[in-house]
Amino acid sequence: MVLSGPNLSRLGSREPEIYGSETLDDIATAVTREGDSLGMTVDFRQSNDEAELIGWLHEAVDAGSDVVLNPAAFTHYSYAIRDACALVTTGGRQLVEVHLSNPAARESFRHTSVVAGVATGTIAGFGSRSYLLALRALVA
Ligand code: DQA
Repeated sequence: MVLSGPNLSRLGSREPEIYGSETLDDIATAVTREGDSLGMTVDFRQSNDEAELIGWLHEAVDAGSDVVLNPAAFTHYSYAIRDACALVTTGGRQLVEVHLSNPAARESFRHTSVVAGVATGTIAGFGSRSYLLALRALVA
């Protein structure tokens, strides 16, 4: 399951100097293709809604799916998303936190990730390649 959080549906026009010119559909296509080449089935979803993302994380737990998650701004303050991510990793599945940009090189409020401590690992700063690298990390 490859999940993207709030405002990522606006990629392409949202701060392209930070996030690039690709749309989320472009990323979904590239991620699905990468998944195919790695023998993985990719279920790519985006939501602006915290509760919906939490429901999807529960679904991943119940299905025994690994997760790639770009929590977007929820990264920095959502303990509810963090706790749902912990359900994935304490349940024995992997969860890779991804970011297009490198939050550590941006505003100080982005330096905290409440998700990182319960993720299997984090990949940030490689643009859309962060998602592709996360898939590779899952199969490595
Ligand atoms: C982001 C970084 C977050 O700080 C920001 O709120 C986002 C996108 C990234 O992919 O670089 O929405 O997660």
